[in-house]
Amino acid sequence: MVGAFQGAGVVVTGAGGGIGAALARRFAAEGARVVVNDLDAERAKHVADEVGGIAVPGDASAIVADARDALGGTVDVYCANAGVAFEGGDTGGPLDEKVWAASWDVMAHVRAAHELLPAWLERGGGRFVSTVSAAGLLTMIGAAPYAVTKHGAYAFAEWLSLTYRHRGVKVHAICPQGVRTDMLAATGSAGDLVLQPTAIEPEAVADALFKGIEDDRFLILPHPEVAAYYQARAGDPDRWLTGMNRIQQQWEAAR
Ligand SMILES: NC(=O)c1ccc[n+]([C@@H]2O[C@H](COP(=O)([O-])OP(=O)(O)OC[C@H]3O[C@@H](n4cnc5c(N)ncnc54)[C@H](O)[C@@H]3O)[C@@H](O)[C@H]2O)c1
Repeated sequence: MVGAFQGAGVVVTGAGGGIGAALARRFAAEGARVVVNDLDAERAKHVADEVGGIAVPGDASAIVADARDALGGTVDVYCANAGVAFEGGDTGGPLDEKVWAASWDVMAHVRAAHELLPAWLERGGGRFVSTVSAAGLLTMIGAAPYAVTKHGAYAFAEWLSLTYRHRGVKVHAICPQGVRTDMLAATGSAGDLVLQPTAIEPEAVADALFKGIEDDRFLILPHPEVAAYYQARAGDPDRWLTGMNRIQQQWEAAR
């Protein structure tokens, strides 16, 4: 991969910490010019200063134009990474529509792709990296909005890939289980049960992405065992649901 991203214009959303910061560091180490976006302007600046990048703070759903300007007109790689997680939101308690609405960060992916595609199709190249989650292939105990919206993010990445791959657009969907970040710390008892035991460092997610880029793969699985879970779900949905319900019951007993 030496030189592949030398001078490339890369945008990483939600890069003030966690997985996004690891992606920003890795692209910068590969020689890219990196736009570091985060809702939290101070965190964005801190990481941008560290990697010699440019901070473009703000909501990830509306930064493509500013990021493009900051990079001198061209975005080569766009990492749609910003995300939020909430425990709950299922129908076992009061329906909180604000939580559901706030979980649709996939709309930021749709808006970004809409703005990026015309230039990418014209020059026959561009790379869209979506930080989804294993929850987008499987589910997340205790977090219906997260599970549902991550399925949407995965479906959108898949659709982008199948629609534009013959026109030079590369798409990668990163689907990790637990990653040691602030978000994991905030997932509460469900995260403690199902994510913490196999959690990895954000740098391992960046490594998995770069290996996937090298191999030209769409689906990036920093936890390789997720492939077998995904197959099990597709192969026998009832058996898989019974197994997941066992975990749900363990979680209820432990709360
Ligand atoms: N940590 C995990 O276990 C895990 C597992 C699978 C997938 N993911 C996904 O990885 C991505 C990054 O998560 P993380 O664990 O690094 O979280 P994190 O909370 O450590 O970092 C997320 C960053 O995104 C920023 N952010 C949130 N909403 C934003 C918005 N609308 N615009 C701009 N910035 C915004 C936050 O300020 C924060 O700095 C998310 O999409 C998350 O769903 C995380």
